[in-house]
Amino acid sequence: MSPELIDLFYLIAAVLFIFGLKGLSHPRTAVRGNLLGSAGMLLAIVVTLLDRRIVSFEVIVAGIVVGALVGVILAYKVSMTSMPQVVAVFNGFGGGASALAVGAALEEALRGGFVEEISVQFTVAAALSALIGGVSFTGSAVAFGKLQGLVNDKPILIAGRHVLNVALAMICLGLSVWLVLDGTSSLSFWILAGVASLLGIMLVIPIGGADMPVVIALLNSYSGVAAAGHGWVLNNTVLIIAGSLVGAAGFILTALMCRAMNRSLVNVMFAGVGANVATIEESEDIYAGRVKAASAEEVAMLLQDARRVIIVPGYGMAVAQAQFVVQDLAELLESKGVEVDFAIHPVAGRMPGHMNVLLAEANIPYQKLKDMDEINPAFRQTDVVLVIGANDVVNPLARESDPSIPIAGMPILDVDQARSVVIVKRSLSPGFSGIANPLFAADNALMLFGDAKQVAMDLMTAVKEVA
Ligand code: TAP
Repeated sequence: MSPELIDLFYLIAAVLFIFGLKGLSHPRTAVRGNLLGSAGMLLAIVVTLLDRRIVSFEVIVAGIVVGALVGVILAYKVSMTSMPQVVAVFNGFGGGASALAVGAALEEALRGGFVEEISVQFTVAAALSALIGGVSFTGSAVAFGKLQGLVNDKPILIAGRHVLNVALAMICLGLSVWLVLDGTSSLSFWILAGVASLLGIMLVIPIGGADMPVVIALLNSYSGVAAAGHGWVLNNTVLIIAGSLVGAAGFILTALMCRAMNRSLVNVMFAGVGANVATIEESEDIYAGRVKAASAEEVAMLLQDARRVIIVPGYGMAVAQAQFVVQDLAELLESKGVEVDFAIHPVAGRMPGHMNVLLAEANIPYQKLKDMDEINPAFRQTDVVLVIGANDVVNPLARESDPSIPIAGMPILDVDQARSVVIVKRSLSPGFSGIANPLFAADNALMLFGDAKQVAMDLMTAVKEVA
């Protein structure tokens, strides 16, 4: 195949990637976007196989079969709530594979193989791949461990970690310079990959479990940059384009999540948010006998008289897998003439779009899911807000500017402005941020204690009985 024809196919693949990403920006077009992106990747792979001097097709076919098998099994077996872990694994393997492939290209070149000259472009890109690939491989492994419960999901704050991290970063820089200046040995490359792997662990261990989605998006961006570096080493245009797209998309998602929490990336990476949990005394100051517990029957009477109800789902709804019963409850209320909407906070739960995915699983129509900016003005005209397993995203302390409050400045759902707020959770325990929530002690608030799924079932029974 002529180089011009190959470049033309690569261009088509790149255009498919871009339209694929565009499609993924809305649930209605997401499936088509996914297919377009996959078609682009298939085209890129086939053209590359035809272009390159392939040593052995048997190994490649075996790899494709094993990879496809693992992919199909994962797609069927993994629940939607475990998606962040899966993405972490993909990122880690992507970054690690880029580093290993670049290492292999370097070894090949040193032995006088297909890369004739080890140029500065080659060694700079190789250093970038080793550094970023190493960090994203082990960082993603730790993120996976934290989300899967294999590693303590609280921030693990090792004394002197900042100094150690700076030292590791300096060593990485020194090894990169060595690799660029002396392209006659691969030793610097492999040591660099090893030190970067240690740095990846050190960078992710001090971050709390709930911040893992941000870390994963960032590592996703890193794995893209590692792939782009790999593309520079191999002089492969489509790898450079695909890597750059992943790098940019991951970084934009990271920035969006940080903005939704009103936190800087530096705060997410280095502040150890989630390490301190409010003491019983601190919480007592806020709650001090003002918390009112209600029964399902009492709440059913409130719902019976309501004209407008807004349901605010949070992490606890995902834990309880209560989305199906909550949908049944919403339908029951609607059948009684109550207007029901769902308010979605951009960082409710533990991954981007977590609540959208859960509610879509329960077949709740998209038009019922209202974003924070759209729904906030409506709380004033709402009779009852049902907060189901959410905490930080409705905590009025976020409106304070005190920097000691981890969620200070985070935009929240203004549920406290409704006539009545019912908070469904098992106890007065704090959410991810570890701070007490004055909403629980507000005059218009009632606590309905229990597991979200069980409470939703009790509410269904009680609403039917009230009728
Ligand atoms: P959280 O503030 O973490 O609160 C969840 C609440 O759910 C807990 O207080 C817990 O109280 C309750 N809960 C747990 N299991 C339950 C069950 N089985 N039944 C009923 N309730 C249960 O959750 P949120 O309001 O969704 O806020 C998300 C937090 O994660 C924010 O701080 C956000 O900044 C952070 N975060 C999110 C993301 C993304 S992308 N979503 C990324 C980074 C950080 P009990 O133990 O008393 O039941």
